[in-house]
Amino acid sequence: MTIAILGQGNMGKGLAGRLTTETVLLGAREPKAGELSYADAAAKADIVVLALPFDAAVEVARTLDLSGKIVVDMTNPVTPDFSGLRIGHTTSAAEEIQKTAPSAKVVKAFNTIFAGLFAAPADRTATVPVFVAGNDEAAVAAVADLVTKAGFAVETTGGLDAARLIEPVGMLNIRLAYGLGRGGNIAPAWLKVAA
Ligand SMILES: NC(=O)c1ccc[n+]([C@@H]2O[C@H](COP(=O)([O-])OP(=O)(O)OC[C@H]3O[C@@H](n4cnc5c(N)ncnc54)[C@H](OP(=O)(O)O)[C@@H]3O)[C@@H](O)[C@H]2O)c1
Repeated sequence: MTIAILGQGNMGKGLAGRLTTETVLLGAREPKAGELSYADAAAKADIVVLALPFDAAVEVARTLDLSGKIVVDMTNPVTPDFSGLRIGHTTSAAEEIQKTAPSAKVVKAFNTIFAGLFAAPADRTATVPVFVAGNDEAAVAAVADLVTKAGFAVETTGGLDAARLIEPVGMLNIRLAYGLGRGGNIAPAWLKVAA
């Protein structure tokens, strides 16, 4: 599958660096000569990763033709001061993006993975879970495969409404890392506890 990564910031570049065996098209907001725009990269791809702030992700989902595409939402819809989430409980960033692009197959993934983890040796992240949620079974399977190829473990969480739960986990991760000084080399995981 061809993967377009829209946004060349910390997350977009980080993920691209882990997908060296895949066909990855990098979409830039203001493409220079030889670069692809968001629209051009998305048009050529099966999977479109929105490596963008939440508002920009919604705007891109509104303006691009993402019909039939698998769209990966990795956003944490944080307040400007990173103290909390702007939306939640009864919706999520992923569901808002899905509403904006109803014919896309939106899948939540990577929002609990700090960008710096992409630069770690792959064997250090192989057991780190990426929480994946989506309503389309084939799209979830394709994103699970992408997660594995990116060098992480897959933790499936059900339908896209699970993003309401995953996004607060991302927020807790931010609080622990930057509010409480644990640093950006942590990641949440679910432990199986022996009886
Ligand atoms: N950083 C992390 O550790 C982390 C972890 C988990 C999830 N996330 C989520 O991942 C997403 C990306 O984070 P990031 O750290 O990669 O951000 P970033 O480094 O600031 O990069 C953001 C990218 O979005 C583009 N962009 C910004 N505003 C835009 C707009 N209005 N229209 C179109 N494009 C726009 C930027 O383009 P320009 O370069 O042209 O400005 C840049 O390529 C966010 O939603 C964040 O919540 C981040």
